[in-house]
Amino acid sequence: DNAQRVEELLKRMTLREKIGQMTQLEIGMVTTGRDQDLRIDPAKLEKAIVEYGVGSILNVRDQALPIEKWHEIIRQIQEVATKRTRLGIPVIYGIDSIHGANYVQGATLFPQEIGMAATWNPELMRRLAAVAARETRAAGIPWSFSPVLDIGRQPLWPRFYETFGEDPYLAKVMGAAYVRGMEGDDISSPQHVAACMKHYVGYSFPLSGRDRTPAWIPEHYLREYFLPSFAAAVQAGAHTVMINSAEVNGIPGHINRHLLTEVLRGELGFQGFVVSDWEDIKKLVSQWRVAANEKEATRMAVMAGIDMSMVPSDYSFSDLLLQLVQEGAVPESRIDEAVRRILRVKFDLGLFDNPFPDPSLRNQLGSREAQQLSLQAARESITLLKNEKDLLPLSKSAKVLVTGPTADSLIPLNNGWTYVWQGSEESLYPKDKLTIRQAIEAKVGRSNVVYVPGTKIVRAQGGPSNATPTDIDVEVDIAAAARAARDVDAVILCLGEGSYAETPGNITDLTLGEPQLRLAEALAATGKPIVLVLVEGRPRVISRIADKMQAIVMAYNPSNEGGQAIADVLFGDFNPCGKLPFTYPSAPNALVTYDRKAFETEATSFGNVPFKPQFEFGHGLSYTTFSYSDLRLSRARLRGDEELEVSVTVTNSGKRAGQEVVQLYVRDLVASLTPPGKRLKRFAKIHLEPGQSKTLTFRLRRDDLAFIGLDGKPVVEPGDFEVMVGGLTGKFTLE
Ligand code: IFM
Repeated sequence: DNAQRVEELLKRMTLREKIGQMTQLEIGMVTTGRDQDLRIDPAKLEKAIVEYGVGSILNVRDQALPIEKWHEIIRQIQEVATKRTRLGIPVIYGIDSIHGANYVQGATLFPQEIGMAATWNPELMRRLAAVAARETRAAGIPWSFSPVLDIGRQPLWPRFYETFGEDPYLAKVMGAAYVRGMEGDDISSPQHVAACMKHYVGYSFPLSGRDRTPAWIPEHYLREYFLPSFAAAVQAGAHTVMINSAEVNGIPGHINRHLLTEVLRGELGFQGFVVSDWEDIKKLVSQWRVAANEKEATRMAVMAGIDMSMVPSDYSFSDLLLQLVQEGAVPESRIDEAVRRILRVKFDLGLFDNPFPDPSLRNQLGSREAQQLSLQAARESITLLKNEKDLLPLSKSAKVLVTGPTADSLIPLNNGWTYVWQGSEESLYPKDKLTIRQAIEAKVGRSNVVYVPGTKIVRAQGGPSNATPTDIDVEVDIAAAARAARDVDAVILCLGEGSYAETPGNITDLTLGEPQLRLAEALAATGKPIVLVLVEGRPRVISRIADKMQAIVMAYNPSNEGGQAIADVLFGDFNPCGKLPFTYPSAPNALVTYDRKAFETEATSFGNVPFKPQFEFGHGLSYTTFSYSDLRLSRARLRGDEELEVSVTVTNSGKRAGQEVVQLYVRDLVASLTPPGKRLKRFAKIHLEPGQSKTLTFRLRRDDLAFIGLDGKPVVEPGDFEVMVGGLTGKFTLE
């Protein structure tokens, strides 16, 4: 079996060969040219694979490549690895397939994770992840750096859209579904890839909001909120994990032995391998200053539990680690442990039996069914936040003004990690996919649509991250948009963000750009009803204009089918069912999550103004209405390992068929650590025809009522609890 094959191979390896397996280089280290002219450089490849025995290569050089190009590159790499080295160990190629195989031209892209979370549909997530896996592997790439399992509780963070939102339970369910979709039952199948859980752990909660800056997370809070999604993904079988590039509580992720070894291995039982993030061992010296030189940093990281270093652009890691082992500063047993894990994944992937891309898989990309699935996901993600006087759906014979910076481009619909890292190359987007404006025109006819941009988002040098281009908002023709509004029945105002990934997406203010707010105000002054469509990867504050909008639709980053999906929702061809996976703030400095303490929502005797978010977590309207009745608890007292059954009846009380996400929350009334106002414990998505009712039963056990105590262990405290489902409440006592 594979474990035995690993041991046999390991015994035959030299120290240099072993360390080579722990080294991951960027594709530019073995190629020349860029984009379409990218070519393997035989001398560079020889140095990497034959001389250094490099075990892994990653990423694209700049932009998505045609599948034929991927095949050519991977084939050449594997030819050298398997035929020109002493032991013929194949390379494991890894790539950022973040929302589909976004670096393979013609692949199916799907909504970014934040939108997938808004679907509250784990089965859909699983199916789309399986498409992403199949299309990534079709290109000859067996390893994908996804899913992101970081929890989105800091909306300034520029990678917020890569998360499943703020709740650990939702992220846990969706993340595990993602892993199962990618890996299936057997990662040696040409339909699957190895998943990579990112970014272990606490990366998403920087105090400053900026990417790769310090987080302060007490260990019990880390375990309560940030670890569960990783634990669930380990259970789902994820084979690899990438480490938090930043630091938590003053300890950089890459040297945190407690988290990397004691918790990840000892407690979560993870058996795969750990890869560093980009150049992060070097950054222990240059950025975090916990090591005086790179050699010391290498020792610290490897001894903490890093198995593979994404170097990515030199051989320093290999050379230094070799010296460290020769000097006795790193025991060879630690090297063996890392290499054993890496080889095991390579064997499990079937790379030893067939390392080459399969030319017959070329036609796997972008099938009609896959695109339909992506459209379904985009539709299900769209969240109707406000719909005064049933303005929506609009009549198809209405005359509309379409305006705003996100109305006529595929870039904001996709955001980062789309064809290029920043998602910002218009020329690379497919010509047959529709922007919001185009989809509306196709649906209601061009003669019913007037388009005026109003403002635009442009890429400019500077901004908070300085070195890299970043987006700024500029006015184009606000007055012209307001004039055009006078002649239409309704305005569809598309605001939001451009595209960004990692540090170039840093912002210092969550408020939507000033020109966009002015555009909204100028339109509102006309008195015409306005539908605000938000295309954004994080909640940008809209409190200045929200009351002036009759309808608000949150679209997140729905990807290439998003224009169509938005038009379908606006004109009633799809009944919206998305629910917010985060709390939408009403002010940039009033950030709260739904599970805030109860008193934060209530008016207090101290005259504190309670937090009132713009929209609550879990909120989302429909074109029909749902009524909840008959909340029943199977027992009033819960003892030992008894089960509490909570049943509720949901009725479609409106006139259209629709889907509802039934959410069950529990509130611990008194606890030794101040209890959250409520926590999500279960959910189910159901379809109901008009007048139809369904009774759902959820089951809770003692463990579901636990919280993490100060000692880092789950505690279950007897006492009174409240169950909340769709506005109904029930009580029980835990003995
Ligand atoms: O996978 C990514 C990670 O999320 C951020 N840094 C670079 C890695 C590889 O591109």
